Amino acid sequence: MTTLDQLNKDGFLVLKDFYTAHQCDVLMHRGKELVKKFNFDGHPSIFQTNEQVRTSDDYFLNSGHNISYFFEKDAFNNNGALKNDLFHSLNKIGHALHDIDPVFKEFSRSSKLKELSLKLKLEKHVIIQSMLIFKHAKIGGVVDIHQDAAFLYTEPCTCVGFWFALEDATIENGCLWAKPGGHHTSLRSWFRRKKDGGTEMHLLDKAPLSMEGMVPLEVKKGTCIVLHGLLPHYSLPNTSKKSRQAYAIHLIDQTAYYPEYNWLQRKQSQLTGF
Ligand code: FE2
Repeated sequence: MTTLDQLNKDGFLVLKDFYTAHQCDVLMHRGKELVKKFNFDGHPSIFQTNEQVRTSDDYFLNSGHNISYFFEKDAFNNNGALKNDLFHSLNKIGHALHDIDPVFKEFSRSSKLKELSLKLKLEKHVIIQSMLIFKHAKIGGVVDIHQDAAFLYTEPCTCVGFWFALEDATIENGCLWAKPGGHHTSLRSWFRRKKDGGTEMHLLDKAPLSMEGMVPLEVKKGTCIVLHGLLPHYSLPNTSKKSRQAYAIHLIDQTAYYPEYNWLQRKQSQLTGF
């Protein structure tokens, strides 16, 4: 079975030792450096997994072009002050790391990824977003079940994700969960901009995503997991003492229709593949 056949069958691919431990360390180190450059003004953008209440402020809506910082919802005490240091309060950084930062650029457009993209017939695909996901020990929050295509809607559906374990991901520290073949289902929702400002989760299909048959994708540092855009997946909170950093990039076919109401708006001319 080819790599592409496997992806079409299961909705995901687990590629061990895709990057070396050193390459993962370099990226995590760069992430820490970026956080040091972040001038936190006391007005956080909080990453909410419940998409109905996801922040829809300008900071979030403009993050497609920027390196923006999003906090864990439990990062603040009742007085609005950080409970921890800045680094350990963050949920993620996004969403244009792959275009702006040279270290992330190199990781996101390597010859290995180019080779993989050819195997997966992604010649027309371009990288539309990137995220460094911290999932820090004890505070890293849940990511509810979702389909990535809801956030990167195209007609037809062309969204593909590449998720890199920068550290070992286990059940204890909140690895991904998905069901083999789970992507053979409809897209349930579309996260989009409202005409009068803000965002909404527009329902396309009322049937809830099934949690049945989900398996943990426990992977070693350096593993790349390819995710079909329709594959329902989630991760549990990190209640362990070990952090679970990951880096994810998402691609869409540049020739597919990309609505102007999608939350993430980039100039088409800015987008490139591997
Ligand atoms: Fe996802």
